[in-house]
Amino acid sequence: MFRSPLVRTIFLTSLVLLVASFAFGEEEVAKEKTWDGKDLFKNHCKTCHTADADAGEYTPMTLIEEQWEEFFDELWVETHQEVVCPKDEKKTVTDMWNDEMLKAVRKFCMDHAADSEQPMTCG
Ligand code: HEC
Repeated sequence: MFRSPLVRTIFLTSLVLLVASFAFGEEEVAKEKTWDGKDLFKNHCKTCHTADADAGEYTPMTLIEEQWEEFFDELWVETHQEVVCPKDEKKTVTDMWNDEMLKAVRKFCMDHAADSEQPMTCG
């Protein structure tokens, strides 16, 4: 197929670069889609759960792991489905959160719960 070694080298090099750019490109996309639980907590949960908030102060270390599990499994929808979203008053808080976002924020709460190895507020 390739009569000249130079053409073959050029062809193979381009092929490698093409494959590499695809692989790299997909990684970038995947990164963009990953939610950061800490960011989510800070920017979305904290809006309503600061120290003197009516809804009560919540940081990851307010609860123990078991209580966070119970919260996300059973209480999240019940307690937030009628709460109006501060950023769009036509929506409720639960409308704004998809499964991936909830998973990320849940992990952040679990990782830094009061009885975890690294209890943490969210800064
Ligand atoms: C728009 C405001 C708002 C946002 C955003 C919000 N909450 Fe709430 N949250 C509330 C209100 C209101 C209650 C109910 C307080 C009550 O019933 O006394 C509540 C209750 C809670 C409770 C107590 C539930 C119970 O009854 O045991 C926890 C824990 C909680 N929120 C955590 C979170 C977390 C985590 C997030 C982000 C994923 C979040 N909240 C986002 C307003 C908000």
